[in-house]
Amino acid sequence: MTGTRKTIAVLPGDGIGPEVVRAAVSVLEECARAFSHRFEFVELPFGGAAIDRCGQPLPRETMDACRAADAVLLGAVGGAKWDSQPLDRRPEAGLLGIRKELGLYINVRPIRLLEPLRGICPLRIDAISTIDMEIVRELAGGIYFGPRQNTGANGAEVASDTEIYSSKEIERVALYAFRRAAARRGQLASIDKANVLASSGLWRKTVQRIAKDFPEVTLESLYVDNAALQIILRPAQFDVMLTSNMFGDILSDEAAALVGSIGLIPSMSLGNGTALYEPIHGSAPQLAGKDSANPIGTILCAAMMLRESFGLPAEAAAIEKAVTHALSRGFRTPDIAKTSAQTVGCTEMAARIRSAVSESIAETERYGWGV
Ligand code: IPM
Ligand code: MN
Repeated sequence: MTGTRKTIAVLPGDGIGPEVVRAAVSVLEECARAFSHRFEFVELPFGGAAIDRCGQPLPRETMDACRAADAVLLGAVGGAKWDSQPLDRRPEAGLLGIRKELGLYINVRPIRLLEPLRGICPLRIDAISTIDMEIVRELAGGIYFGPRQNTGANGAEVASDTEIYSSKEIERVALYAFRRAAARRGQLASIDKANVLASSGLWRKTVQRIAKDFPEVTLESLYVDNAALQIILRPAQFDVMLTSNMFGDILSDEAAALVGSIGLIPSMSLGNGTALYEPIHGSAPQLAGKDSANPIGTILCAAMMLRESFGLPAEAAAIEKAVTHALSRGFRTPDIAKTSAQTVGCTEMAARIRSAVSESIAETERYGWGV
């Protein structure tokens, strides 16, 4: 069997970042062994850890290695230690910086209710209904990148941020969302606040224009406040949701809560070059170093990387199946545990998933894929 060779830039970052990334790398290594691939991991300083070591959150060496890699796996950034720094010297500036530098304007966040976790979904979701949606978040523009200002002094300070979108920026992410919806259930919900914001008016107009080229996709434009309500009321209605940078940031945390924990959600960021994979949970400093973080979000990032960047769907499926298998055997990190009896740490959860990967491969070799 001739395997695939890939180089993965690994940016553990801060807080629980290093633990969850270690877990995902161990699963990728297991996968490489089982399928005879060669993955080379290049670990690089990033975020607060890089501020401490090199004086900046996104050192040039890190950026160069990311550009040269086949994919980037990122943990999380941020922590109290750097919170008093000005915005442009905080770990988060490194995260926004790498997204900008790699031209990553699309961020996909799949929100899926895994069958073994149905019981911890905070909604009374019935046996036939489920949650399976993807949030396509614009990632390189909007208010996170618009001009900001702090003026005035002595109790009369004024601060502002600016939401700016061009039709080109809206178009390129919308096209992707339409294609993604066309390949799924053909439903696209585009989120805006067009009853108040000019940038949202342009968003709605642009998306509705593109819709004409996708007759197979049903487009619905929703105001963000109504979308926040509909996610709770009837999450099953959503297939693909298209959002601006800020609305996607907020709605993806909300949607994640419905499927059990924000610790379960992976994400993929795409642009014109190297793709980047990161869990959406952030650095969770209160959990760092306690071996209690949930590694599943990052492990599912690894699966997404294999499918979307490396064209290895069987390997991706083996990992996803292993995650469900480990959960169905009752293993839970604290964030998704109902009782302490079933609780395991980050390291053990990863080990359980690794052994489920090899079991699932052994089984497939016996019965073939597609079962
Ligand atoms: C996320 C995070 C980041 C974002 C922060 C840490 C800059 O919340 O990836 O959702 O807002 O994009
Ligand atoms: Mn967020």
